[in-house]
Amino acid sequence: MGLVLAVDGPGGAGKGTVCHIASKILGYPYLDTGLLYRAVALKLVAKNVTKLESHAIEFAGTLKLEDLNKVGLRDPEVSNLSSKIAIIPGVRERLLSFQIEFSRDPRGAILDGRDIGARVCPNADIKFYITASLEVRAKRRWIETIKLNPSETLSKVKADLMKRDIRDRSRSLAPLIKAEDALLIDTSELTIDASVKLFIDAVNEKLNN
Ligand code: DC
Repeated sequence: MGLVLAVDGPGGAGKGTVCHIASKILGYPYLDTGLLYRAVALKLVAKNVTKLESHAIEFAGTLKLEDLNKVGLRDPEVSNLSSKIAIIPGVRERLLSFQIEFSRDPRGAILDGRDIGARVCPNADIKFYITASLEVRAKRRWIETIKLNPSETLSKVKADLMKRDIRDRSRSLAPLIKAEDALLIDTSELTIDASVKLFIDAVNEKLNN
């Protein structure tokens, strides 16, 4: 039976990169839970719906794994909408069962998001909080974004990220917080390899105890 690893932190902190590499090293399946919210938002944009809340709840209840591989999930419009629909209780409720089911994989599981340690996997074997300064996160997101949209400016990416940070941290329902027992990894000054090493070292320590 593998470990359940719960990873939280703000956008652009490097959670996805670290978790992806760690999942290959450990052989644990990995779920980027932000993709669930993004997939619901993408469907709303694609279908151009007017009744946002009821459709978001409906789409959250019928999500499939293949919806997490669609083109457009990282578009700025989808990023913004995903953090808006994340405050709808019915959306979170429907996505919760998907995530809990994923965390029960006997091989182990890595889930990253905002409320994983506090709500989705409160009994996780290890909780991580991966963060970085706003400056560093904005620069990373901007470098990713200009590959698809070369006219995007760093200041726009930073402003969008800041708005989403405020929304994710200040919402009353499942806000982004560092769980008390979470291990903090600040990647602002760390290479990817160094960040992954801290993560894997913590897992090995747990496995050896
Ligand atoms: O991690 P991300 O940027 O892909 O997440 C997109 C949005 O989804 C984020 O702004 C907040 C929301 N989200 C959430 O509320 N809870 C999670 N566990 C994961 C993401």
